[in-house]
Amino acid sequence: MASPIKSLQMKDFLSLLPNRQKQFAAAPEASLPVEDSARALAKALHPKRQYLTVAAVTERAPDCKSFTLVPDPDRGTQALAYFAAGKYLTVYETIAGMPATRAYSISSAPKAALEGRYELTIKRVDGGLMSNYILQNWAVGTPVEVSAPAGNFEYQPLRDAPTVIGLAGGSGITPFVALANAIADGDEDCDLVLLYGSRDANSILFREELDAVQQRTDRVKVVHVLSDPGKKKLPAGMEKGFLTAELIRKYAPEDALYSIFICGPQQMYAFLEKELESLGFARKYIRRETFGEVHDPASLPDYPADVPETVQITVTVQDTTATFTASTADSVMQALEKNGIAVPARCRSGECGFCHSHLLSGEVFVPKSLEFRRMADFKYGCIHPCCSFPLTDLVLSVPAAD
Ligand SMILES: Cc1cc2nc3c(=O)[nH]c(=O)nc-3n(C[C@H](O)[C@H](O)[C@H](O)COP(=O)(O)OP(=O)(O)OC[C@H]3O[C@@H](n4cnc5c(N)ncnc54)[C@H](O)[C@@H]3O)c2cc1C
Ligand code: FES
Repeated sequence: MASPIKSLQMKDFLSLLPNRQKQFAAAPEASLPVEDSARALAKALHPKRQYLTVAAVTERAPDCKSFTLVPDPDRGTQALAYFAAGKYLTVYETIAGMPATRAYSISSAPKAALEGRYELTIKRVDGGLMSNYILQNWAVGTPVEVSAPAGNFEYQPLRDAPTVIGLAGGSGITPFVALANAIADGDEDCDLVLLYGSRDANSILFREELDAVQQRTDRVKVVHVLSDPGKKKLPAGMEKGFLTAELIRKYAPEDALYSIFICGPQQMYAFLEKELESLGFARKYIRRETFGEVHDPASLPDYPADVPETVQITVTVQDTTATFTASTADSVMQALEKNGIAVPARCRSGECGFCHSHLLSGEVFVPKSLEFRRMADFKYGCIHPCCSFPLTDLVLSVPAAD
């Protein structure tokens, strides 16, 4: 018998979901599944969108602010989705007429979500679209739209060791602040040794909060590591230099298993990769937060030669088809957004699969650090537009924004 997948035409395949939706819409109400408690819980934990309002703004550093977000019942959000420390929210904005999304780790404790509060902490990135927009525009009362909590950077007792060595750099401290507070609240059962790299004492984010959490529990220890501390004497309990294997050995528990969790800028991941090799322990004990978007693919060593500066992209979203010229320096997702086409997105790093699309013709470049496709994706021509860069003219079919 012919494989049903092989014999299925792409046109028929793409119409499966809209056809099913039409059948559901046409079905008499009595025949639809009855709402049960498992379904209600799933909806509460995984809402498609959460409609929030900025309730407070805290200045953390000259270019970094925390925003307290609360539900906006008038726009349909009664309560916040609960989450495990380490999750992020995807923020949806329309900036200069273009749809834009970015992931931000939740810096507040899970317990605060039950009390109706999330906190996001945004650091300005030079020339960055979303970070500059948020820091300039979000104020008390601003309506905000975010996804359900997402990501895989949480502590899992069956997988991870009883002690976590957290390696944080810059704004990569945010998920660890949530984890440290979750431990102090009794919501996570692990010990945390946090090695937090900052340029100097003035650039440390959450310094008072991290001091306070260490007062609440002896299961959290924070060591500040300053790369450029200046001429002043280093305060007690701080280290000078970078996050290295030597420093990890110094603070890791002796004769006890530990996991390493890493969150920080992309350069830090590359540096730590080499350092961690020298520790020589199983990869399953090393966990890294999602890498983030690549912005200059041509700088990568395996980027092909002779790529044109621009290409034509033809895209179909449901029943609408558009063709436009795109720069090969932009990911397919950035190119679509610049042309006003919103794509379902969470991580923008190839990991979550939300933007999963069909490439019908043409070639793309995917940076190695963002290549999470499976064999079936290669076989059936699937790409993640968030981390695929056009090399030739493309024809693709993209799901409508969720
Ligand atoms: C899981 C996750 C959690 C995160 N949590 C946080 C958090 O808690 N706090 C936080 O502040 N950030 C966090 N980030 C980072 C955040 O998602 C954004 O990436 C960050 O705010 C920058 O976005 P932007 O729109 O301001 O910059 P972008 O517009 O995306 O630009 C980023 C940089 O790339 C440069 N650039 C843009 N386009 C090009 C180009 N074509 N060629 C060369 N360079 C280019 C820009 O000049 C800028 O320097 C997280 C990221 C991930 C993946
Ligand atoms: S947005 Fe997550 S894989 Fe593309």
